[in-house]
Amino acid sequence: MSVLDKVVAAVTPPESDKARAEARAKARAAARPGDWLSMVLEHHVQIEQAFADVKSATTLAARLSAQKTLAVILTGHSNAEESALYPALAGADEKSHATSAYAEQAAAKTQMGLLERLAPMSQDYLDKLEHIRGAVAHHVYEEEGNWFLELKEKVPAEQQAKLTERYAEEFERYVGEGVGRSTVEI
Ligand SMILES: [Fe+2]
Repeated sequence: MSVLDKVVAAVTPPESDKARAEARAKARAAARPGDWLSMVLEHHVQIEQAFADVKSATTLAARLSAQKTLAVILTGHSNAEESALYPALAGADEKSHATSAYAEQAAAKTQMGLLERLAPMSQDYLDKLEHIRGAVAHHVYEEEGNWFLELKEKVPAEQQAKLTERYAEEFERYVGEGVGRSTVEI
């Protein structure tokens, strides 16, 4: 088993749905309308929906279209976190958490690339999709329940606006302008 496979395998199976819901509630309480954390939370919800849409697609065309949507939002979100948020986490004396975050996302990106090489309507495809979904769900749980709360707490207020600006800039660079802005009331 490769190192990247081990990272994914190690984080599966994830924690309970209840634990995940509690982590999200904590993160929502820490977020402010329009800030980087509110955007991240909105994107996490969109990613969960995109995984569900790929799984439930019943035709080849629908599955390929849903897979593309998932890949765009997941890559755009991951790239923005890697450029804007994880460096700030490392700079806030949380280097080991930042390292885990990068490693988990590298594993997810690798697996998403491998998913593209499988027959979209096959069981192997669905198995890999579920594997990636579980790993991403665990990663999201770590961010919402721990890492991003640290970032909110440890980064001074005057630098929080810069994080919001940089996260939005990187997300929009990949996904498209206006798509990443929060429309959800936290
Ligand atoms: Fe995330």
